[in-house]
Amino acid sequence: MKQTALITGATSGLGYEFVQLFAKDNYDLILVARNEEKLEAIKSEFPHISVTTISADLSQPGSVRAVVNDINSKGLHVNALVNNAGFGLLGKFEELNIEKQLEMIHLNISALTELTHAFLPQMIRQKSGKIMNVASTAAFQPGPLMAVYYATKAYVLSFSEALVEELKDTGVTVTTLCPGATKTNFGAVANVEKTKMFSSAMEAPTVATLGYEGMQKGKRVIITGSSNKIGATVAKFLPRSVGAKVAKYVAGEK
Ligand SMILES: NC(=O)c1ccc[n+]([C@@H]2O[C@H](COP(=O)([O-])OP(=O)(O)OC[C@H]3O[C@@H](n4cnc5c(N)ncnc54)[C@H](OP(=O)(O)O)[C@@H]3O)[C@@H](O)[C@H]2O)c1
Repeated sequence: MKQTALITGATSGLGYEFVQLFAKDNYDLILVARNEEKLEAIKSEFPHISVTTISADLSQPGSVRAVVNDINSKGLHVNALVNNAGFGLLGKFEELNIEKQLEMIHLNISALTELTHAFLPQMIRQKSGKIMNVASTAAFQPGPLMAVYYATKAYVLSFSEALVEELKDTGVTVTTLCPGATKTNFGAVANVEKTKMFSSAMEAPTVATLGYEGMQKGKRVIITGSSNKIGATVAKFLPRSVGAKVAKYVAGEK
């Protein structure tokens, strides 16, 4: 039977690469992001599959409900859910705009949680479904100068790993993708391109492929790249105060 993937943040970076990968495997697509023009341009790349585009600002309360209602009213069934949309901001917590930081929490945490809650029951009933939540290597330690961003990604990892246990033997898998610095629009949006953490960024197609293949195999957590894997392992053994110091160091300029 034809499978459908819902991808948030589909217009750029990792999301756009996920679109390519799902399309190559002949999934029908539901693409969500704010930029309607970009969504339509991406849709026109795939005349051979059904692509539904939904323009929505997922950082705004009520937006996920509207997206879910739209999908349900069209009679679409989501077999794979990729909660990818997200952004970060560099700067001292008290100096960054509080509204933007609350939008970040809403997008990175609330929208991801609400979308998962909306589509999971159907997946459980069907005894099959795949969810991929995009976290970050930021999930593994506190992140001074990106305090809210790191905290949102720690939530994504913790939430997703908890679901893995809840969903054992249901046929539904939850995969957390933890990329390190990756060449997308994220660096410019977060203002981190000049920082040490971005001195060796990975290519977006490589990172997305690792995530996609891991999700298809039902892997629990995927950390992309050997240096990121080492960093995440070391972070597990370091006191969190030391992890925070390292994170602060890499948030500084190159
Ligand atoms: N790149 C990295 O270094 C890196 C590292 C670790 C984790 N990540 C994570 O990877 C995920 C994807 O980011 P990326 O690197 O691919 O960045 P990106 O190129 O900036 O893409 C972000 C995507 O999210 C969408 N988006 C942003 N705000 C939105 C909103 N309010 N409502 C709906 N859609 C929104 C954007 O589309 P519109 O502008 O059209 O809305 C875009 O399609 C994020 O969760 C990010 O935290 C990235």
